[in-house]
Amino acid sequence: MFRFLPEQASAHAADVDWINNLITDLSVFFTVAIVGSMIYFAIRYRRKGGVDHDTPRIEGSHTLEAIWTIVPTVVCIFIGYYGVAIYKEMRTVPANALNITIWGQKWQWDFEYEYKDAEGKPQVKKIGGKNVEWVVPVNRPIKLVMQSRDVIHSFFIPAMRVKRDVIPGQWNYISFTPIKTGKFPVFCTEYCGREHSNMMANLSVVSEAEYYRWVQDRSAEMAMAGLAPSERGKQLYTAKGCNACHSLDGSRVLGPSFLKVYGAKHKLTDGSEVDVDDNYIQESILHPMAKIVAGYSPVMPSFDGQLNPDELAALIAFIKAQDGSAPIVAAPPPAADEGWDKLTPAERGEKWVKGKAIPACTSCHSLDGSKLVGPTFKGLYLREEEMEGAGKVKADDAYIIESILHPGAKIVKGYQNMMPPVYGALKEQDFKDIIEYLKTVK
Ligand code: CUA
Repeated sequence: MFRFLPEQASAHAADVDWINNLITDLSVFFTVAIVGSMIYFAIRYRRKGGVDHDTPRIEGSHTLEAIWTIVPTVVCIFIGYYGVAIYKEMRTVPANALNITIWGQKWQWDFEYEYKDAEGKPQVKKIGGKNVEWVVPVNRPIKLVMQSRDVIHSFFIPAMRVKRDVIPGQWNYISFTPIKTGKFPVFCTEYCGREHSNMMANLSVVSEAEYYRWVQDRSAEMAMAGLAPSERGKQLYTAKGCNACHSLDGSRVLGPSFLKVYGAKHKLTDGSEVDVDDNYIQESILHPMAKIVAGYSPVMPSFDGQLNPDELAALIAFIKAQDGSAPIVAAPPPAADEGWDKLTPAERGEKWVKGKAIPACTSCHSLDGSKLVGPTFKGLYLREEEMEGAGKVKADDAYIIESILHPGAKIVKGYQNMMPPVYGALKEQDFKDIIEYLKTVK
């Protein structure tokens, strides 16, 4: 009864409809049975001819009580079991799923497809706008990873039987396997302002070959073309200094390596386990203290406010790409050079300061007394500096080491808290060498 559902275009649609119809039928059956007998009895035993009729008083029927306890319990357990089982099935994403990133914003949907071109280089196709047509291949599992740029939206493809809220600052996903080609409407189903009812898109399901032709055809969107998210993430990985503490080759530095980290399970210091997914990575970037991996120290600075949502997404895409299939691109933390040990400490320190440390200290600290972003190194050693809110501090060994590891701890008056805390991979000997060199910059 009441079969008003749209066509079944995804693999799990039949299951969803089956349980949905079952619940509808049960509801109709019990509504008719209960309300029907209420009405029947009301009429049957109504007050007739101005006289009340006594009806038999029945008390304490164990049979009746057993029936109305057991039947609904069995029905509820049955529905609950299949509800959970089908939902679990819907939330399990096959490994070969095609990943598409979706951004919701007032009042349109934007789609990002990362794919590899003929040379194996990652490319991105970005499309978006009102009623945009987006394309997926038929019979291939699809994973939509979604986030909002502003308020809460909700992404709903009725024909695929998937719907999920799209929330700013949090990644949600839905997954489905389209089983028929055609065009299917997408709606926003969370009231998000004036144009909410027009926040739509058109899903076009096509053959695999047609999909590849479409995704590689970039002629229509040159204005929006850009670096693939994982490529942008690769730049950010070095630009933001992630590389100082997170290797790509599995080696241990201050933080866990990014190699094959996506999809892994992390054991935390409190003994619990987390899945390394988009939300966990994002949280670890924005709020590194929230979950500390067992065996590591809580030393990572927060990048909250330093990365926009696209940059965060790019970093996640880059981390996701470190699945062991791609050659390792960024340089691992600097290793000892040939003949390094034959240099004097001050010579080694000079190499660190002038560029072996990345970024080079000298890009912000001059050696000749001129003022750059940070205080000059000229005459720095044992110089007394006025600190913001901390009085005078002498630039001795302890202060220099602290300033390298935790640049935000004490800020010299007149300067800004700009230095990236990315030099955590330096070893004790390296600090000694740097200090020896700084002593010579007079
Ligand atoms: Cu977006 Cu409603």
